[in-house]
Amino acid sequence: MIEEYWKLERRAFANTPDPAFVYRSPSFDEGFARLLYDATELRGGLSLITGEIGCGKTMLAQALADRLAGSACDVVQVHYPKLTPAQLLATVARGIGIETLLRGKLAMVEAVGARLHALHASGRKPVLVVDEAQLATPSVLEEIRLLTNHEDRQDKHIHVVLLGQPELRDRVRKRPQIDQRVSLRFHVDPLEAEDVAGYVNHRLAMAGHAGVPIFTEGAVIMLAERSGGVPRRVNTLATQALFVGAMRALSSIDEELMADVADDQE
Ligand SMILES: Nc1ncnc2c1ncn2[C@@H]1O[C@H](COP(=O)(O)OP(=O)(O)OP(=O)(O)O)[C@@H](O)[C@H]1O
Ligand SMILES: [Mg+2]
Repeated sequence: MIEEYWKLERRAFANTPDPAFVYRSPSFDEGFARLLYDATELRGGLSLITGEIGCGKTMLAQALADRLAGSACDVVQVHYPKLTPAQLLATVARGIGIETLLRGKLAMVEAVGARLHALHASGRKPVLVVDEAQLATPSVLEEIRLLTNHEDRQDKHIHVVLLGQPELRDRVRKRPQIDQRVSLRFHVDPLEAEDVAGYVNHRLAMAGHAGVPIFTEGAVIMLAERSGGVPRRVNTLATQALFVGAMRALSSIDEELMADVADDQE
């Protein structure tokens, strides 16, 4: 209903990490470029991406997977690492194309090692992306560390990207054997206030909006302020405003409506 009212082809502010909607703020762009370089060229071992809740870590991971699709870098994604080390290993094994899972940890470790070696020899560059890595147990972090040991004199055979909430940084810091393997650290910050307008306009344009802006300048300033620039909060507030605006048959969303919607959310 709100899409029809505002003449949008699809939801503009869905809280899903659809890479088609990625807004490349200067800070996102920098993070993305550095992550891409670390995972594909440098392959230094382990990229560590942290950020507050809702700031775009999963979106960054999806954008990376999207960019690497069809390249020599095969991405294996783990979205929820509350696994046992053996389950993690099995996920990696399946992700790199081992079809029959062997029984016994040692056999699995050897099979993964052999497969990674063969992939490397044929020019493939697997990338393991672990989201919500702050949930991984110490033994899973250790298993991940061991994966980065698959290497030859020149190259790592698998590159790992860990993404997680800020406490992940401290957890990694407490484990020097992992900490020393970190080749990139990047923290995803909330959007700068001046980037919120670009974010809103980009998402609206991707949803098919054209013509007169829906949100007034004042509304966008209010949205930036009340969301703290956190994309997930921007999405929620903007969706609510679109809804209330449509209910009231308004032709645009102004500062006052935005403030009302934000008050309701608190
Ligand atoms: N750069 C961006 N461009 C467009 N949309 C974004 C961007 N970053 C985040 N979003 C939107 O905000 C939502 C929340 O972002 P995301 O899920 O990536 O946050 P997160 O940092 O992974 O949060 P959590 O810590 O809860 O896992 C996404 O579903 C997406 O819709
Ligand atoms: Mg996430």
